[in-house]
Amino acid sequence: MSPRRAPRGRPVLITDRLVLRPLTWDDLPELEALDADPEVMRFLDRPRTPDEVRERMLSRLDPTADAMGLGYWAGLERGRFVGWWLLSPQGPGLAEIGWRLHPRAWGRGLASEGAAALLEHGFTTAGLERVVAETMVANHASRGVMRRAGMRPTGVVHRGADPWLPSADEGDWLAELTAREWHAAHTP
Ligand SMILES: CC(C)(COP(=O)(O)OP(=O)(O)OC[C@H]1O[C@@H](n2cnc3c(N)ncnc32)[C@H](O)[C@@H]1OP(=O)(O)O)[C@@H](O)C(=O)NCCC(=O)NCCS
Repeated sequence: MSPRRAPRGRPVLITDRLVLRPLTWDDLPELEALDADPEVMRFLDRPRTPDEVRERMLSRLDPTADAMGLGYWAGLERGRFVGWWLLSPQGPGLAEIGWRLHPRAWGRGLASEGAAALLEHGFTTAGLERVVAETMVANHASRGVMRRAGMRPTGVVHRGADPWLPSADEGDWLAELTAREWHAAHTP
């Protein structure tokens, strides 16, 4: 992965198969399609309407996060949108990582490839000290991305029942990775 500075905070990140570039309003139709898909939203929420997705765009394009080199990235494989990745600021030196890919892109390691690029960016260019992640215990695919990214499980929390998400009863899976751990794993 080689970071290339974009004019503003978030850089474009290049991996073997992906170009991860800052998300923009032009990606709205792709985001609407993602959030309307019950399979994509299975462990997140009920499918969302285009209006709801448009409302969320404002926080997804937060200039404060961008100034820190954080926020949302759109992932393109050979020029085609495959999904988004996120490093969301949570406090000094701390960010939460996340991902949401189109089902046509699942099962090929693309989510993990993008996550690795975001972690490298977070712990080098953006100067993060710690990155955390959370997913439903039942979301084994997302837990797999965390594991392949080298994230360490830190526990399970119960955030209560959700009528849209029957498996919410099992709780949410937490994981984290510190800058020290990341550098130790990436120093030859
Ligand atoms: C979570 C999500 C991104 C995971 O996608 P994924 O395709 O399972 O994850 P990866 O891209 O890391 O791919 C891993 C799979 O590809 C396979 N694979 C193939 N080539 C690979 C490679 N070069 N490197 C790594 N894995 C590879 C792995 O074996 C694994 O398959 P398996 O689960 O059958 O063992 C996807 O399910 C998704 O977008 N879900 C909807 C949104 C969501 O739930 N987001 C998370 C909310 S917290």
